[in-house]
Amino acid sequence: MRDLVCENANGLCVQGLKIKRQGAALLDVPELVLDGPGPTLILGPNGAGKSLLLRCLHGLIAPDRGQVMFRDGPLTADHMARQAMVFQQPVLLRRSVSGNLDFVLKRQGLDRAARRKKIAELLVEGGLDGKARQAARSLSGGEAQRLAILRALATGPDTLFLDEPTSALDPSATQKIERMILRASARGVRVVMVTHDIGQARRLASDVVMMQGGQVVEHGAARQVLDAPSSPAARRYLAGGLVT
Ligand SMILES: Nc1ncnc2c1ncn2[C@@H]1O[C@H](COP(=O)(O)OP(=O)(O)O)[C@@H](O)[C@H]1O
Ligand SMILES: [Mg+2]
Repeated sequence: MRDLVCENANGLCVQGLKIKRQGAALLDVPELVLDGPGPTLILGPNGAGKSLLLRCLHGLIAPDRGQVMFRDGPLTADHMARQAMVFQQPVLLRRSVSGNLDFVLKRQGLDRAARRKKIAELLVEGGLDGKARQAARSLSGGEAQRLAILRALATGPDTLFLDEPTSALDPSATQKIERMILRASARGVRVVMVTHDIGQARRLASDVVMMQGGQVVEHGAARQVLDAPSSPAARRYLAGGLVT
């Protein structure tokens, strides 16, 4: 029965996922299907297991039990190559802005002319045209995160995972990044993003996964989960109460 769920899902599917450390379950997700049309936002208090789940979905952590499934089978290196991840602190090379993009495009085997064209497109997409030659590590926090997202998008991923990409940024920098994410989603990139910003979830999410204590306490359409949550844990979290 569970296999059928994943075979029919047109996206990511998790079954029987467990991660344990010293006997305690850090993550326990019997079933989760992410196959909606727009961005999935993962919400929940600190320590809920949001980052762990994201790392599992991307294949950075192997679960103790269960697996991440796609329609064509379990997560493989091929799937991973078509996924990309962006972290709260952007990871950039000690090169120029365009050098950071060129590095990724070279690995894809693009020739010089194709890389140049692609870099120009990406810089416009990220609002970084005019900064091509600047050292990536001298960018502002918001610019650096935009470059990190461009690097992730440069590979043409099916799925983009983002772990609190705007947590360290001010509202204006956040807005620029939210627009990039929505544009990527509109182009067909599956977006799965962790946030602790409920407003951000309202602005971006098509569906919301609410987590607490390593478990998914609720998953559904964004409006339903955010405006009329059915689980007490989600209600408390959204009301701003402490969830323990
Ligand atoms: N490598 C690890 N070893 C032991 N415990 C871990 C490890 N990684 C995360 N944890 C624990 O798992 C829980 C969930 O962590 P995390 O996914 O980072 O939470 P969130 O991203 O929701 O804030 C936390 O209690 C954290 O301390
Ligand atoms: Mg986290």
